[in-house]
Amino acid sequence: MAEKKDLPVHVQEQEVLSDDGKSRRDFVVMTATGVACAGAVTATIPFIGSLAPSADVLAVGTTEVDLANIKEGETVTVMWRGQPVFITHRSARQIQEAQSVNLAELKDPQVDEERVKKGKENWLVCVAVCTHLGCVPVANKGEYDGWLCPCHGSHYDSSGRIRKGPAPLNLAIPNYEFISDTKIKIG
Ligand code: FES
Repeated sequence: MAEKKDLPVHVQEQEVLSDDGKSRRDFVVMTATGVACAGAVTATIPFIGSLAPSADVLAVGTTEVDLANIKEGETVTVMWRGQPVFITHRSARQIQEAQSVNLAELKDPQVDEERVKKGKENWLVCVAVCTHLGCVPVANKGEYDGWLCPCHGSHYDSSGRIRKGPAPLNLAIPNYEFISDTKIKIG
């Protein structure tokens, strides 16, 4: 008889409708296979409002970056909420390439102007996680003057848009803002 092992579990948040039709956030215990446990193993735990993050916790969720020392053509990687983020100081050539792409050629069509801040087109800020299976792409590699993901060969252009390979989506753009001419706050 096969040996019985305890399955590791984790908790997943999900939105449910209560009897009065209002939505609330509940948590469902999940097995390691990602399937909600049935019967006695299933448990829902009501969301407790006081668990909402406080202001100091939210502040930890932001990252300020001084751009002054990032040279043109250079990409730096910073950490934000536990994940890497690329900050690229784009050259005039890279901006021109990004803006002149025919959208019909793109797997995930998006104009460059929507991926940068107006008047700050020389800065691209994007999450450094390949949208295929989560590897970190390598800057200034690939066929499109942007990034190459070494895991399965996804090529991203100088706007972080997927151009070739198995990744389905562009590199994500995080929420960020310029808090001075040379400083951004991510988050
Ligand atoms: S994880 Fe990047 S191409 Fe597969």
